Amino acid sequence: MGSVPLASAAALARRLEGKVALITGGASGIGECTARLFSKHGAKVVIADIQDELGHSICKDLDSSSATYIHCDVTKEENIEHAVNTTVSKYGKLDIMHSSAGIVGAWNPSILHNKKSHFEQVISVNLVGTFLGIKHAARVMIPSGRGSIVAMASICGRIGGVASHAYTSSKHGIVGLVRNTAVELGTLGIRVNSVSPYAVPTPMSKTFLNTDDEGIAALYSNLKGTVLKPQDVAEAVLYLGSDESKYVSGHDLVVDGGFTVVNPGLCVFGQSV
Ligand SMILES: NC(=O)c1ccc[n+]([C@@H]2O[C@H](COP(=O)([O-])OP(=O)(O)OC[C@H]3O[C@@H](n4cnc5c(N)ncnc54)[C@H](O)[C@@H]3O)[C@@H](O)[C@H]2O)c1
Repeated sequence: MGSVPLASAAALARRLEGKVALITGGASGIGECTARLFSKHGAKVVIADIQDELGHSICKDLDSSSATYIHCDVTKEENIEHAVNTTVSKYGKLDIMHSSAGIVGAWNPSILHNKKSHFEQVISVNLVGTFLGIKHAARVMIPSGRGSIVAMASICGRIGGVASHAYTSSKHGIVGLVRNTAVELGTLGIRVNSVSPYAVPTPMSKTFLNTDDEGIAALYSNLKGTVLKPQDVAEAVLYLGSDESKYVSGHDLVVDGGFTVVNPGLCVFGQSV
């Protein structure tokens, strides 16, 4: 075997040069951080969100020739269709679709008091919104025979008991949808993956947990000595969006410091013996 060429420092510095990305939920939190990181790595970025002022101000902050904001409610198929079509007409193609838009919805610990309308709202934004994103991204990626779709799941898509029934169901649904579409779209050259983070300090998590960055950092975590930041999740999305993951598909990349693989109540490590 010949020697393996190492990626040049320049290539590593601009890992999305020439790529076009559409990011739903890109006006805040993890989506915003991902939009900024993608732009830094040379991608043209389209932010699709319902927070228009925030979305516009982020695009102003980025190079205006390479960042665009589009109002898009992910529960409305015509909005997603329009966002995808505008991306292609403005930048010529769509290489990466990242669905970060999501809500936690109303919290009530008893299923007896969970309203059907609240359940449906969370499913509609998180799961149906992701479905519509994958569908319309695939529509424009199929003719070029390539593309990378990265959905946002959660540790709540792997285990129960961490969030509401609606949120947990929506995130389990996303993992299933990613697996199924990865099989279909893989035959057409398109990769589909998801990222599943542990608690990250963002407007969503801080409002839901009624705490601040320190409060999130103080939550139980398996991995000691570091805390999860939006940037860490964005780096995982960057990997899956870039060609560095060219043979990775149908995968759920868990970014949780080992949280979902340990039962702290029974763990034999880290105890004094
Ligand atoms: N923060 C966490 O601890 C955490 C952990 C695991 C997974 N996630 C997931 O990460 C994603 C991003 O969440 P975040 O924590 O950055 O929250 P956030 O509230 O900061 O960002 C969510 C974004 O989605 C947008 N959005 C909401 N409803 C929308 C709709 N109908 N159409 C278009 N955009 C809509 C919001 O306007 C907002 O900009 C979500 O899917 C969330 O479930 C978050």
